[in-house]
Amino acid sequence: RLNTLALPAMAAHLLTVTEPAQLQALHRALAADPALAALPRFVLGGGSNLVLTGDFPGLVLKMAIPGRELVSEDADAWYVAGGAGENWHDFVLWTLQAGYPGLENLALIPGTVGAAPIQNIGAYGLEVAERLHRVEAIDLETGEERTFTRDDCRFAYRDSLFKQQGWHLTGHIAITRVVFRLPKAWQPIVRYADLARWLEERGQFTPTPTQVAEAVMAIRRAKLPDPMAVPNAGSFFHNPVVDAATAERLAAAHPGLPRYPQPDGRIKLAAGWLIEQSGWKGKRLGPAGMYEKQALVLVNLGGAKGADVAAVMRAVQADVAAKFGVTLTPEPIFV
Ligand code: EPU
Repeated sequence: RLNTLALPAMAAHLLTVTEPAQLQALHRALAADPALAALPRFVLGGGSNLVLTGDFPGLVLKMAIPGRELVSEDADAWYVAGGAGENWHDFVLWTLQAGYPGLENLALIPGTVGAAPIQNIGAYGLEVAERLHRVEAIDLETGEERTFTRDDCRFAYRDSLFKQQGWHLTGHIAITRVVFRLPKAWQPIVRYADLARWLEERGQFTPTPTQVAEAVMAIRRAKLPDPMAVPNAGSFFHNPVVDAATAERLAAAHPGLPRYPQPDGRIKLAAGWLIEQSGWKGKRLGPAGMYEKQALVLVNLGGAKGADVAAVMRAVQADVAAKFGVTLTPEPIFV
């Protein structure tokens, strides 16, 4: 129930964390009990970016800290906070209803507020890094509160300091609250082709924040499976970034290859396109496969285990590498 790929696994111990004080109490317990401190730990959010390969012989911290509030404002922006355990999409809808727009392009992304900075969630022309002000956390080694500014977080495409350090995998640091900076001078972000087209087709040339959110939700619902109906972990691979010469060569050999130039001159390719061209769209291997409407999404078609997911992953990687010479790296975390 706690992972959206619906893979069967048990944790030896589970602690549901609903307030930061529990983490400080846990720090004291860890300091007093070497056997407890020796257990592996894992910090769990919405379980939507996770491949469980078996039972976990340690302590899982299920982050469930609630809270949504305006913490401050200045002439230019609202500063809005969400507890780590808040459902991301519900939080986005709340910001819109409360009159603090700016997160609407990220509507309907599965997961929690506390997990959002870890892999720098992004969609439809916006990454959470652009709206992030501060991350608050508890260091379980010292018991102290720690604050990370936006610069501290070292954000990149689906990457951050938190992910680079693997703190969620070691249970070293647990994010408790995230503060967002939402500029009062709101501008719609509609540079993503799918989004621009959807709005234009409906005559929404100067859309409101709610109209952008509704468009994003409609596009996502049309392409991406609802984890409650078809278990999945969103995009299963990163979009690979290659040098310009490689992209040119691939485009010459494969007309129609989508290419997205990056600020550093390299070119991002579309993993979903590469996978579809490799024959994997809607193809399965046992109880898991690649989704019929979006080849980048690996789905559990019923009863899959972690090993079945890994088998599909390796088969897709091998076929894409053979056809295009491009290595796909998985987006979810293997535990
Ligand atoms: N495409 C195909 N076949 C497919 C899927 C995609 O040809 O089966 C082509 C599309 O036609 C398009 C291109 O690939 O030309 C890109 O597809 P799409 O717009 O659907 O986006 P994506 O690159 O597959 C990324 C993110 C998504 C995010 C969308 C929208 C990654 C790994 N994925 O997907 O994020 O929602 O853009 O911004 O960056 C996630 O990370 O879990 C996720 C869902």
